[in-house]
Order: sequence, then structure tokens, then C-alpha cells
Amino acid sequence: MRIAVLISGSGSNLQAIIDACEKQQINGDIVAVISNRPNVYGLERAEKASIETVVLDHKEFESREAYDSALMEKIDTFTPDLVVLAGFMRILTPGLVQKYKGQMLNIHPSLLPKYQGLNTHQRAIDAGDKEHGVSVHFVTEELDGGPVVLQAKINILPDDTADSLAKRIHQKEHIIYPLVVQWFSEQRLTMEEDNAVFNNKKL
Ligand code: GRF
Repeated sequence: MRIAVLISGSGSNLQAIIDACEKQQINGDIVAVISNRPNVYGLERAEKASIETVVLDHKEFESREAYDSALMEKIDTFTPDLVVLAGFMRILTPGLVQKYKGQMLNIHPSLLPKYQGLNTHQRAIDAGDKEHGVSVHFVTEELDGGPVVLQAKINILPDDTADSLAKRIHQKEHIIYPLVVQWFSEQRLTMEEDNAVFNNKKL
């Protein structure tokens, strides 16, 4: 399976997926890492693993549509079976989402459907939640609203801050994201009519 990974930052999830490919837990290879920001650490991680990198800087485009159509063209040159959003901090246009429907995954640091959007850790603390977590989901037109495949939970402790939560959540991310990519690579996971289907069962 050919995987394209889109990033905007440090790429620790990218690293977890690189490692799982190298250990052959994932039945596939990352064929490209594309970043909308130059000089981010995730690009270095890809280069170290001899993966082709592309920087497509959103600042060089006039509109979201123009950027996404260039991005789509770029992604297509790699003919991926799966597009993995790993900290890609952009809202996608409907055209881009449609194009890779059922072939695009995202990781979002909350127990979806709670806290779509940004600042999820602080929002969980402010709401007085006892639990917090992270979700891997298929991407649909609704921001952070596509069908959830897998979640991991942690307890919120009395002296937790947004930073301490982010740290513990990251550790969970690095477990669940490669696992979901693995399931997809084994063709055990699909999206059908906006539902995630695992081993022929609707999730
Ligand atoms: C993660 O917290 C992920 O949940 C969010 O963006 C962050 C990416 O981190 N979507 P990294 O670049 O993989 O380290």
C-alpha cells in the first residue's frame, strides 16, 4: 500500500508510522511527506528515513481553493492508496475531501464528538472533564466530524495543564494511529456510506 502523509509540524505521529512501516507492522510504504510549512522537523524525520518530501507553502497561494487544487495535483503524482493527515493544520476544501473519501484519515486530540477544532486540552480542563483522549477518524466534509475508528482515553488529574495533557495524549497517539493505518493496509478497515467498517462490522 502506498501512503502519503501530510504534516505541518514536528511529525511525531509521522515518526510512529515510519517506525511501524519499517517493522512491517503496516503493509505498505510512505511514498511522500508533504508539508504546508517549510523547515519543520517532520521533514527532517522523512529525509532521515529516505522518504521523498514536498513543501507546498500555503502562503504562496491566493485562496484555499487554489492551494487545495495544487495540493491535490501534488498528492496525485504519488498515486497513494491512503492519505494520512498527521498534524496537518489546515481546513480542507470539500473538493479535496471528496477526492480521497474513504482513503483519508486524521487524528484529533479529543474524544470526538467532543471538542472539534482547536485548543482541545484546555477546553477539556475548563469543562471539568474527568477523562480526555484522542480519536482517529476518516475525513469527511464536516471538520473533525468523520466516522471515528479508534479512540484512546486518559484520566485528567487535578494538577494537569494543557501541556501535560498534550504530552500524555501524544503517547497514546503514537500507539493508535499506526494501528489504524495497519488495519487499513490489511484491508480490514473501510469507509462505507460515511460509516467506518472494521472486519465487516459497522463501528
Ligand atoms: C497531534 O496532537 C494531533 O492530534 C494533532 O496535531 C498534533 C500533531 O503532532 N492533529 P505531531 O506533529 O505528530 O507531533
